[in-house]
Amino acid sequence: MKKVITYGTFDLFHEGHYNLLKHAKELGDYLVVGVTTQHFDEARGKVNVVDPIMTRIENVKKTGFADEIIVEDHDGQKIEDIQKYDVDIFTVGSDWVGHFDYLNAFCKVVYLPRTPGISSTMKRNNSNELVNLGLVGTGRLAPRFYDESKFVSGVEIVAAFNPDTTDGTAEKFTKRFNVPVEHQDYDKFLDSVHAVYIESPNETHYEYAKKALLADKHVLSEKPLTFTREQAEELYKLAEEKGIVLMEGIKTAYCPGFQQLINVAKSGKIGEIRDVTAVFTRIASKDSREMTDEKYGGAFLENGSYPLLPIIKLMGMDFQDIRIDCIDGPNGIDHYTQIMIRYKNGFATAKAGVGVKSEGQLVIAGTEGYIIAQSPWWLTHKFDIRYEDPNKIEHYEPVFQGDGFRYEIAEFVRKINGSSENGYRLTSEESIAMADVVEKFLRQRGRL
Ligand code: CTP
Repeated sequence: MKKVITYGTFDLFHEGHYNLLKHAKELGDYLVVGVTTQHFDEARGKVNVVDPIMTRIENVKKTGFADEIIVEDHDGQKIEDIQKYDVDIFTVGSDWVGHFDYLNAFCKVVYLPRTPGISSTMKRNNSNELVNLGLVGTGRLAPRFYDESKFVSGVEIVAAFNPDTTDGTAEKFTKRFNVPVEHQDYDKFLDSVHAVYIESPNETHYEYAKKALLADKHVLSEKPLTFTREQAEELYKLAEEKGIVLMEGIKTAYCPGFQQLINVAKSGKIGEIRDVTAVFTRIASKDSREMTDEKYGGAFLENGSYPLLPIIKLMGMDFQDIRIDCIDGPNGIDHYTQIMIRYKNGFATAKAGVGVKSEGQLVIAGTEGYIIAQSPWWLTHKFDIRYEDPNKIEHYEPVFQGDGFRYEIAEFVRKINGSSENGYRLTSEESIAMADVVEKFLRQRGRL
């Protein structure tokens, strides 16, 4: 009996998949089909697969060509499977020519002709309207955001807005990406887009977001979304009433590894969680906005959302007491800020710095063990679970690609297309709780 094996995502099942499976079956007597998990696809850079794995498996099954369906979830699995299933022929479409030649050491490799004119990517783009996105602000984050958006299908950056013509960033942005920048008329800019990403100075996020929502544009805003709880509640209510998407851009929340870390922490592996300590420091240059803007610069507004995120996700929003303490620079800007939160059954500390450098780590202490994630834990490349027994260590190295933006953009696009789960990665309640802490900070500092 001649055994054939093939692999694919088989998202939004189409004629190309059908033909491939048909021809694969014709190569032998028995066909094994490997269907990828979403996690594995994310690791390969496919961040916006639409169909859940069960649907994709079901669609492969329906063709009647597969004698056996398996799940592919890690690198190196193909070699394992070929040996395990005693496979004679490995096959995939001709878009992969050369890529799998290394498998010739284990079986025959056949590249089948690809069906022209159809792909899952095309279907994803056509089934949903292409999201024309506008950037509000052309500062430091804009080029990174642009580059990362190229890894997400279904979105295109078509315009930018920056009223400041003096800082030179708008000119540079247009030149590099060939995207027009509007300088005066925000409404005109909004007319040319479906959605906006706001990365302007902190104090402008709320106004820009509100205007965009009122004009029925989806909003992804850099943190902090607003300076008060009331403003955050108002924006989420507005978005809900209008049936449009509002998302706070705390990159960490959307990174796959961070999700895994949160889920492992909540799974009971370390017992009851009693303490979360998170530190994020990034020394800012003396002339940067965060070091010179006496009203809205500083460590907390710049970096505080990162360490607050795991605290709010794990300990919740029911704060019994919050204490905020700062070490200020000569101009009164907080260089290093500590936020201590007391909960009924535990406490938490968040530290953020722009003028003090410390070990950036996240420690989640439980009644049976603890999780430790080293810098850059906010991208969550890896983390450990440790126990009383020092010899027992569980190590995790989740998937991570790029600089994290692509996951946030992919989630935004999924939400716009209505195919995202339900926003559990960062809920509106969690984002509002963040605004609550921001408000407390600003009030204590006499800035509200
Ligand atoms: N395939 C094909 N003809 C097409 C599309 C896909 O023969 N028009 C083949 C691929 O070469 C692969 C299998 O179908 O062997 C599964 O491919 P998959 O990556 O799931 O589909 P694509 O449509 O290529 O997906 P995407 O656009 O997400 O890359």
